[in-house]
Amino acid sequence: MIFLNRRLKICSTPSVSPCDFLRGRQKSIHAKKAIPGSSANKGGCETCHGPGSIHVDKGGEKGAGIIAFGKKKGDAKAGDAKCLSCHEASSTLSFWKMGKHKSAGVSCDSCHTVHQSGKKNLKMSEPDLCYTCHKDIRAQVNKRSHHPIKEGKVSCNDCHDPHGTFGKKLVKADTTNELCYKCHSEKRGPYMFEHPPVEENCLNCHTAHGSNQAKLLSRKTPQLCQACHDWTRHPGAPYTSFETFRGATPSKQLTARDCMNCHSTIHGSNGPSTRGLRFVR
Ligand code: HEC
Ligand code: HEC
Ligand code: HEC
Ligand code: HEC
Ligand code: HEC
Ligand code: HEC
Ligand code: HEC
Ligand code: HEC
Ligand code: HEC
Repeated sequence: MIFLNRRLKICSTPSVSPCDFLRGRQKSIHAKKAIPGSSANKGGCETCHGPGSIHVDKGGEKGAGIIAFGKKKGDAKAGDAKCLSCHEASSTLSFWKMGKHKSAGVSCDSCHTVHQSGKKNLKMSEPDLCYTCHKDIRAQVNKRSHHPIKEGKVSCNDCHDPHGTFGKKLVKADTTNELCYKCHSEKRGPYMFEHPPVEENCLNCHTAHGSNQAKLLSRKTPQLCQACHDWTRHPGAPYTSFETFRGATPSKQLTARDCMNCHSTIHGSNGPSTRGLRFVR
């Protein structure tokens, strides 16, 4: 009792980590008797840490005999197996085995801490959680044009499932385009006149996270368009690499004019005859 009182006294002092740990564990979903499948009803500590007898016999020697979730060399896999013994059946983990996180050796407790009661037991919230390992993505998201991730309107999780997906790159859709259509449904069409690279893959022209060009474009125009379109076919608009539409040297006819000034329905068009065909409104 004295011990407990002393414990509570320490615990009323903020920022004492062992107490946070204790409190967190009690509030955690896994410690709740009211939840039928919780570890509290299935063998408590040992459902995750394995049998504690050796640990106890050795007078509580750190790590002896128990699973210490990565703190002990080589036991991250054993830890994951414990989590999966209860969670494998849920739809959340259906594709865990196919995902890159598993094959790269990222374990459940890289992202989760079951001794805390925070949202979904996460170690920290998104996107910071993801940035601890994906610094390159943070750099992309800081570029001039970006999906509004730092503004909090879109999260990594809207597009990715960190637990694995059927499709590649942990993307939450069968194809990239299906993912984009979820939020940009107007780009799905159907259009009378389709622009083939759009139907094929939005990332033919856009980047997913961020770009220094406007509108998440992967290159600036007209170079973007000219990667596929030969200028010689364009009627009455000759220019060279020194005389681009936007180039430093003024071009003869099309100074400061961009392809999209005229070809404004670049994702597809229902306009009549050649105007639709050529995406000029
Ligand atoms: C649902 C699974 C689970 C249950 C149940 C569980 N633990 Fe843990 N424990 C973990 C994980 C995972 C870690 C690794 C640290 C983390 O991710 O929070 C851990 C870490 C620890 C640590 C090390 C903390 C540190 O920071 O060094 C101790 C001590 C511990 N657990 C004790 C217990 C005790 C005592 C119980 C029973 C009252 C218990 N655990 C129940 C999963 C569990
Ligand atoms: C004895 C079974 C059992 C084990 C072992 C277990 N869990 Fe759970 N877990 C549950 C139950 C039951 C729930 C609550 C119902 C649900 O969400 O499925 C839960 C919920 C969760 C949640 C959601 C929490 C929330 O707030 O919604 C996360 C995340 C989680 N577990 C992660 C883990 C991790 C990581 C491990 C391994 C360290 C683990 N679990 C081990 C049974 C278990
Ligand atoms: C790369 C980070 C990461 C890893 C690794 C990871 N998770 Fe998660 N997990 C998350 C995030 C983020 C969420 C929250 C998803 C959300 O809010 O929709 C989550 C949610 C969950 C949930 C709650 C699902 C729900 O719909 O309520 C469970 C259960 C869970 N994880 C279990 C696990 C288990 C078990 C493992 C290991 C096999 C694991 N996670 C590995 C990031 C991760
Ligand atoms: C609007 C949807 C969207 C959002 C939001 C998003 N991503 Fe992506 N991400 C994608 C797509 C699509 C790809 C696949 C690109 C490809 O196929 O090359 C991808 C690829 C990746 C890759 C693999 C990169 C590579 O070069 O192979 C990582 C890592 C990644 N995303 C992490 C993140 C993180 C972390 C966040 C949150 C900060 C995030 N993503 C937010 C759509 C998104
Ligand atoms: C503990 C480190 C770690 C954390 C945290 C983490 N990742 Fe990863 N992630 C990796 C590693 C390692 C890889 C595989 C190597 C690579 O491709 O860079 C990877 C790969 C990926 C990929 C590419 C998958 C592929 O098939 O190529 C995506 C997408 C991704 N992570 C998204 C996320 C998201 C979203 C979060 C946050 C919820 C997150 N990651 C958190 C370490 C982490
Ligand atoms: C989860 C929803 C979501 C998904 C999925 C999504 N986007 Fe977005 N996208 C947004 C939001 C929100 C904005 C910002 C709109 C605004 O600010 O008006 C945006 C903006 C954009 C912009 C304009 C950027 C700018 O600088 O104005 C482009 C281009 C774009 N998205 C392309 C894509 C592509 C390509 C994909 C598929 C890889 C995709 N989006 C998937 C939600 C999404
Ligand atoms: C052939 C190159 C190309 C492809 C492929 C492409 N886009 Fe675009 N997209 C553009 C250009 C160029 C702009 C800028 C238009 C402007 O500035 O007037 C743009 C702008 C956008 C915008 C912001 C402005 C708007 O119209 O809402 C969104 C959102 C967008 N694209 C989504 C998509 C999606 C989703 C796909 C895949 C279905 C896709 N794009 C495929 C070239 C392309
Ligand atoms: C990845 C390659 C690719 C990119 C990038 C691309 N296009 Fe296209 N574009 C095509 C293909 C393929 C066709 C179909 C040609 C055909 O049917 O003969 C086409 C058709 C067109 C047409 C109709 C031509 C016709 O003969 O009917 C116009 C106009 C056009 N694109 C303009 C643009 C503009 C402007 C951009 C830059 C924003 C652009 N394209 C970027 C591949 C591309
Ligand atoms: C000043 C307006 C204007 C600008 C700027 C412009 N175009 Fe065009 N383009 C047109 C018109 C109008 C047509 C249709 C001509 C016709 O129907 O015969 C056309 C036709 C095309 C065609 C189809 C040519 C064919 O032979 O069938 C392509 C491809 C094309 N443009 C690409 C581009 C690209 C790429 C750019 C930027 C580098 C660009 N255009 C800039 C007005 C423009």
